Amino acid sequence: DPEESLRPRPPVVTFLGHVDHGKTSLLDKILGLNVAAKEKGGITQHIRAYQVEKNGRPITFLDTPGHEAFTAMRARGANCTDIVVLVVAVDDGVMPQTEEAISHARAAGVPIVVALNKVDLPGTRPERVMQQLTGLGLVPTEWGGDVEMVRTSALTGQGIPELLDTLITLGDIFELKANYDRPACGTCLEASLQPGRGVVAKFLVQKGTLRPGDIVVCGTAHGRIKAMYDPLQPHKRVQEAPPARPVDVIGLDNVPEAGSRFVVLEDIAKARKIAEHRMEM
Ligand code: GTP
Ligand code: MG
Ligand code: NA
Repeated sequence: DPEESLRPRPPVVTFLGHVDHGKTSLLDKILGLNVAAKEKGGITQHIRAYQVEKNGRPITFLDTPGHEAFTAMRARGANCTDIVVLVVAVDDGVMPQTEEAISHARAAGVPIVVALNKVDLPGTRPERVMQQLTGLGLVPTEWGGDVEMVRTSALTGQGIPELLDTLITLGDIFELKANYDRPACGTCLEASLQPGRGVVAKFLVQKGTLRPGDIVVCGTAHGRIKAMYDPLQPHKRVQEAPPARPVDVIGLDNVPEAGSRFVVLEDIAKARKIAEHRMEM
């Protein structure tokens, strides 16, 4: 897109880290939600996407699972984000999926902000975790490195304003921009067949603006968008999804593979042809 067509867009921030280190709990505290308490077995099994206003500015957050089974979701989360928040519980320290998350962020070329979480637990020493992270090449700014590390507690809320300030400041430094006025494209974070709703695809719009009525092709699926909903309020319809906006989309003819790109086309016959061609491959 030509420079003059670009306008500022909100940052996309993905929470990554080892299982149970507090990703969902931190996001609950930030968003005023209570998701963690309702999860099956206390573990996250999906990518969740939310856009909220913080300090008067929109930010998009992606929550990912920490369980080892969900490597692909973590990679997907790292691949469509501007900033990774690496959540490390200070009582547990660096664990296998902490290291995996660092690799995903590096492979995607995305900067990391560390949340040293659960600092409310007595007897824990965040410095020990900072030492471990330094050994992996993530050196905290307070020790002369370039990685912001914020001590947080999802329980008490300690450090959460600092974490948000850090994210907003970084977002500003990157001068993130997108063209709002082109046919939309982006990534399908996940998709499923839901009783009574049909195919529901969670899209993250990355360029352009997506609207009901648009014709999309996404992996092996295609269709005309019947309705779009806010992932935070599943009954609230959305009429426009600009860049960095997550939306639940209804209208695809089948369930696309998570991670597929989507694009808006002019012509439904062309969209069908592309999807069918992919189906045969
Ligand atoms: P997965 O998504 O399954 O990888 O876990 P998660 O990283 O999202 O962690 P989750 O939010 O599910 O929290 C795991 C457990 O740690 C829960 O029992 C939380 O209540 C607890 N927890 C999370 N953050 C904190 C914290 O800051 N302090 C304390 N004391 N407990 C916390
Ligand atoms: Mg979780
Ligand atoms: Na958990």
